[in-house]
Amino acid sequence: MPIDTETLSLVHYPAPILQERSKAVAEVNDEVRAVARRLIELMHEHEGVGLAAPQAGVPWRIFVTRGDEDEPDLVYINPELTLARTALEPFEEGCLSLPGIHVTVRRPTTATIVALDIDGNPFTVTSDDFIARIWQHEFDHLNGTLIINRMSPIDRLSTRKALKELKLAAGS
Ligand code: NI
Repeated sequence: MPIDTETLSLVHYPAPILQERSKAVAEVNDEVRAVARRLIELMHEHEGVGLAAPQAGVPWRIFVTRGDEDEPDLVYINPELTLARTALEPFEEGCLSLPGIHVTVRRPTTATIVALDIDGNPFTVTSDDFIARIWQHEFDHLNGTLIINRMSPIDRLSTRKALKELKLAAGS
């Protein structure tokens, strides 16, 4: 059944889809492009710097990132991520699927991503900039990993109430 991309909206924790591994995209067709465009729309609507397909309820290996002033938004389909063996850098991250929650996540500063673009063409980018962290955060989403799965014991305590409230809001 084709996806009605118009109706796709942001999914919050604890929706099960956020904690599952998404499936590879078999072919970059019009439906895949429509999902990618909707992800870009939702990312802007919610003022995010990136958004992954499962966050819009679609279990596919696609994510998008927001461009800087003169850089375009980018679509990554079936991404593969390679992390450099750099020291881990702690940084406070949020997530559109975890409103009100900010936790410190330690990640390598440098990464290389290989993916298909919205036309199905492969591309490779290496960065030691902030985008390398966004790739890691969004790539995690495709494997069902959330920032709360990577937080320290201290953050675990401080976010307990907010997580409980999200569960209550979802009626679970
Ligand atoms: Ni997120």
